[in-house]
Amino acid sequence: MDILTIQGGKTLHGELKISGSKNAALPILIATLLTDERCTLRNVPYLDDIETVIELLAFLGKKIVRDRDEIVVTAGSALQAEAPYELVRKMRASIVVMGPLVARLKRVKVSLPGGCAIGGRPINIHLDGFRRLGATIELEQGYVDLKAEQLKGARLPLEFPSVGATENLMMAASLIPGRTEIVHAAREPEIEDLSAFLNAMGARVTGAGSDHITIDGVERLHGAIHSVIPDRIECGTYMIAAAMTKGSLLLQHASASHLSALIEKMEQAGIEIDAKDTTIRVKGPAKIRPVSLETAVHPGFPTDLQAQWIALMAISSGVAQVTEQVFENRFMHLPELQRMGADIQTKGNTATIRGVESLSGAEVMVSDLRAGAALVLAGLVAKGTTVIHRVYHLDRGYEHLEQKLSAVGANITRSKE
Ligand code: EPZ
Repeated sequence: MDILTIQGGKTLHGELKISGSKNAALPILIATLLTDERCTLRNVPYLDDIETVIELLAFLGKKIVRDRDEIVVTAGSALQAEAPYELVRKMRASIVVMGPLVARLKRVKVSLPGGCAIGGRPINIHLDGFRRLGATIELEQGYVDLKAEQLKGARLPLEFPSVGATENLMMAASLIPGRTEIVHAAREPEIEDLSAFLNAMGARVTGAGSDHITIDGVERLHGAIHSVIPDRIECGTYMIAAAMTKGSLLLQHASASHLSALIEKMEQAGIEIDAKDTTIRVKGPAKIRPVSLETAVHPGFPTDLQAQWIALMAISSGVAQVTEQVFENRFMHLPELQRMGADIQTKGNTATIRGVESLSGAEVMVSDLRAGAALVLAGLVAKGTTVIHRVYHLDRGYEHLEQKLSAVGANITRSKE
């Protein structure tokens, strides 16, 4: 397995291109199951999770050709109605194959995704929506078996604005007769991007980005060409890197409108942000003011930037409180940050971070994707050497991580364990 070795203390200067969004590309790739015609997707990042979903689509019957950041998906063999455990367990987002497959094949059998480091990751909201659309559901031997003689549009009140459930149900509803209204829908930019792709395929989706999405089902969907939005979480991670290292980074292909909650909090912390329509410049201040926050669904502060924010607060000039409201167990980065000298106490889902003068390098282990990002950020500013183990978690969500950081002055190298 790979490790990353970081010599801390370098200031980051220069320009970075933000890659396409992992969390937009994954459901959009899966939406190609809704048609047998050619779909061309651009600005798709090179990430392990993208490779996993390509493997899953090939298993389900699709033919996929990748040429640099463009992926062309066409029909291969007959669509399969079963998504096996060994593929679904690798990536929870696979669960959204349910929507397209049950709409097209009237049945689908998908392995339960199982939990992961940040929580149990149940799918009750997904299943409640499918029942309301007319599916019968059996759970056996770790598989969910959905059957549907005749699905029809319905009102789907979500008990929580789940991103995956909104995506799953939006895709199913686009191909079943009648009107479906998703109420308390997730409002993330990735939902809007999926809706744009579905409409390019001939679907009739309105309201994506709001908490009320209306879908009028159509008979069939055709192929489409689509370029995926920038990755707002990758962008936010590099913005925080610039702030922590007291550097100055210009982030290109960035969508500031997707990061208004982060920008607001960074400005409160005294960090200079200059956001234009496709670029964001971030200048690190001499002193980082402590700023407390609670994570929330979009447009609130993203849970996927919580760990990175705690790394920033670890070297702030005071005391901040961060409360994780979206996932039940997303503080795995704290013990590793404490080993690097961070002064953090937790009480339930709230962490209290007392800024310290400096962190010190250490051997640390990544537990999940965004916790890993926090450890890289801490390593960039820690005195001495930080060695990061289980880098494969990072490879799921950060394209060319060490190349991008080295290009703007970080001393970071990848090697074999
Ligand atoms: C998506 O996960 C993202 N993944 C996550 O990003 C992100 O953290 C999350 O949305 C929240 O923004 C992708 O888009 C591939 P949810 P998802 O369903 O869809 C509970 C990353 O780092 N819940 O909105 O799985 C659930 O347990 C990843 O890129 C139910 O209880 O998130 C969680 O506590 C990590 N029942 C909360 O809702 C359900 O049926 C949010 O989950 C579904 C969800």
